[in-house]
Amino acid sequence: MMNNQELKHLAERLMSNNKGILAMDESTGTCDKRFKALGIPQTEEYRRKYRQMIVTTPQLEESISGAILFDETLHQQTDDGQSFLTILKQKDIIAGIKVDQGTIPLSFFPGETITEGLDGLTNRMTNYYQMGLRFAKWRAVIHIDSALPTKTCIAANAYTLARYAAICQEAGIVPIVEPEVLMDGSHTMERCAAVTQDVLKEVFNALYEQKVFLEGMILKPNMVLPGLACPEQNDTETIAYETISCFLKVVPAAIGGIAFLSGGQSPLLASERLNMMQLRYGSIMPWPLTFSFSRAIQQPALEIWKGDDKNVAAAQEALAHRAAGNRAARLAEYNPAS
Ligand code: 13P
Repeated sequence: MMNNQELKHLAERLMSNNKGILAMDESTGTCDKRFKALGIPQTEEYRRKYRQMIVTTPQLEESISGAILFDETLHQQTDDGQSFLTILKQKDIIAGIKVDQGTIPLSFFPGETITEGLDGLTNRMTNYYQMGLRFAKWRAVIHIDSALPTKTCIAANAYTLARYAAICQEAGIVPIVEPEVLMDGSHTMERCAAVTQDVLKEVFNALYEQKVFLEGMILKPNMVLPGLACPEQNDTETIAYETISCFLKVVPAAIGGIAFLSGGQSPLLASERLNMMQLRYGSIMPWPLTFSFSRAIQQPALEIWKGDDKNVAAAQEALAHRAAGNRAARLAEYNPAS
């Protein structure tokens, strides 16, 4: 069993060397949806080929410290029989695991969701630890509209996230705590800022109540953004300012780090915004701040690969390029033209 110092050390390793965390943990349903849109067969074999393309990308380890996997991927191998976990280990990329089991409608609260997966989690965590996994992820989803989110939804998701985080740490696994306030909708950036602040405040209260060791966890938040359908789309300076101001109010300085989700932003905007936060506020932030993108790193590569073996090298080049661009953004050295 790990102690707190080891959890802290693991969180530090995940945040070290200006790298970020790759979220390659799409559930089968999400992966199939993205494959279907590009005409890629929605089979286990194609998901294996896709994950093989990702984990064998040359130089991936120069920008990526950890990779979040989906359970199916743990049991898969390359064409020549090497397990994906072995490949990651060779690259010194720490393997993590998505342990939530997705969202369901929150009873009596139309339009809101709660994340499932606590039942049996202690046993699953013990098994994952034995397999060599050292961090985990749980995503809670908060919807904004004129009447949402409700206090009940925020409280239920905060409690569940904290319960998950405590179970992780008990098993020696660093929890990534992901309360995602969605970009869907026509709400303003100011409203996203207010909701994100309320949600994070409630999440950290719950983490405190459940004695989660803050130094041994990583927060995976949304950026503070206007809704996708909001007529006013704020500039990068404003988004960077609002996002960091929000975190400074409610995110304890003690946590291991912050690693953003991309949430449907374009890959270029996600990098540009992270870059601006580092450029303007890098010297005053109390936490290391990096990326944990899925779509904003993988989508261009997926669109090149299209399930065809002859596109693997070009897709890997695109993947390495996005990963490197985000590492540059963490250093405030991102150049969108490159
Ligand atoms: P996106 O970067 O595509 O939002 O995914 C991050 C993630 O891990 C969602 O749980």
